[in-house]
Amino acid sequence: MLVSGKQMLEHAHKHGYAVGAFNINNMEILQALVAAAEEERSPVLLQVSEGAIKYAGMDYLSAMVKVAASKTDIPICLHLDHGTTYETIMQCMTHGWTSVMYDGSHHPLETNIAETAHIVKVAHASGISVEAELGRLSGTEDNISVAEKDSIYTNPQEAEKFVRETGIDSLAIAIGTAHGKYKGEPKLDYERLDTIKKMLNMPIVLHGASGLTEEQLKKCVSLGVNKINIDTDFRQAFTDGIHSAFDADPDVFDPRKILSPAREAVKQVAIKKIRMFGSSGMADVK
Ligand code: G3H
Ligand code: 13P
Ligand code: ZN
Repeated sequence: MLVSGKQMLEHAHKHGYAVGAFNINNMEILQALVAAAEEERSPVLLQVSEGAIKYAGMDYLSAMVKVAASKTDIPICLHLDHGTTYETIMQCMTHGWTSVMYDGSHHPLETNIAETAHIVKVAHASGISVEAELGRLSGTEDNISVAEKDSIYTNPQEAEKFVRETGIDSLAIAIGTAHGKYKGEPKLDYERLDTIKKMLNMPIVLHGASGLTEEQLKKCVSLGVNKINIDTDFRQAFTDGIHSAFDADPDVFDPRKILSPAREAVKQVAIKKIRMFGSSGMADVK
């Protein structure tokens, strides 16, 4: 069943868990993620980047997710990940997506506020939820200074103003995570997360969560993160699955035999993440 991002994340906020926000690029990854969510009786947020839309097509991705949602009672949200243009967001809305992210985090605060507020107005008129981001996701160096931290990470006072003036449904924050594979060990600013959650009392989103330890992920959930974005870990699992098919038979040429272990590998990783996020069984909690 397809649900709005707001409904899904408000439930997570109320019950103190995080929904896995998992990127999809093709049918096998989508099927793996939905199978994992069904097995765990967990809601799942399927997110699509502009790159994924370019690769697979808005119509194919929309249709596949709608088929998946129509075949299950698990809550599924179809979300645009890092939307950068008004055009893409409008297209998602006309294709029945239930949530969008507008990423204006590279803009100065006032521009980010003005553009995000405009998108919120349009999206909310159609019952579509909006996530937006404040701060930069550039990871951390061990010796980062307090001043540097303050200029890169989400500033709690700015976050309060941003939420008040835009009316967004969830806020993506920067506390030391980065997209892709980490070079060093990520150091997270839990104190900042705690302050922001207490000030805003709303669904908080963590991007760049691949590569974080179970302890880090659980700590973030305990401090109020309600949506955890994972892409890289699934890309790795999918590719490892393909390698395993070739290791087992270097002459294999049936794509189904190559992609089946890839799909299974993604499913197993998704089950582990769902358990860490505390969302198992939450599809059945009112
Ligand atoms: O945060 C970015 C996601 O991992 C999507 O990456 O733009 O390469 O699809 P992509
Ligand atoms: P990772 O690829 O680092 O998991 O980041 C995913 C993400 O933030 C998608 O928006
Ligand atoms: Zn992201």
